[in-house]
Amino acid sequence: MKRIILASVAAFALAGVTVLTGPSFGRSGDDDAAIVEGKLPVGYRDWRLISVAHEEGSLNDLRAVLGNDVAIKAYRDNTLPFPDGAIVARLAWRYLPSEENNKVFGRPQSFVAGPPVNGVQFMVKDSRKYAATGGWGFVQFNDGKPADEAGRGACFGCHEPAIARDFVFTRYAP
Ligand code: HEC
Repeated sequence: MKRIILASVAAFALAGVTVLTGPSFGRSGDDDAAIVEGKLPVGYRDWRLISVAHEEGSLNDLRAVLGNDVAIKAYRDNTLPFPDGAIVARLAWRYLPSEENNKVFGRPQSFVAGPPVNGVQFMVKDSRKYAATGGWGFVQFNDGKPADEAGRGACFGCHEPAIARDFVFTRYAP
């Protein structure tokens, strides 16, 4: 009887481990594979925040840069280049004035995130697979679907000036 109880405890513990390391916790292998297959990685919206930015001009957005567990650890440990399995995501939303907040502040000063715009972009680190582009695979999703490959050369070319930080522009916001 004791043995059966121990066995079931062990089984539950194992099940727990499986749940904790499941896709929503950013198991990089699965997420990498999903992106390559043209699917948004499960749970990327719950990845941790690296920093935020605002672009004016035609982009006119508020953006957040998120990292999976491997990317966040590398940032916090100042590890460069980023290790294989690191994935960095860029989300963006329309930059909108908030009437509601402005009323509270008593003057026009508040801007908030509106609907999602400008797609979701990913940089996936695999130093062998993406050796030609600094070890990073660059992918953009529009409305949940991968954008065509044509524009991808432009991704790496534009990220090259950030070579000293392994082609990643965004610094970790403390
Ligand atoms: C015109 C130059 C340019 C092009 C083209 C470009 N990027 Fe970027 N990218 C930037 C800059 C600058 C930042 C940092 C500021 C920001 O987020 O707006 C950035 C940020 C990112 C980030 C967040 C990590 C980081 O480097 O800060 C990801 C992910 C990203 N880009 C992916 C892509 C993908 C995928 C493509 C191609 C579909 C692409 N980028 C094309 C200039 C560019």
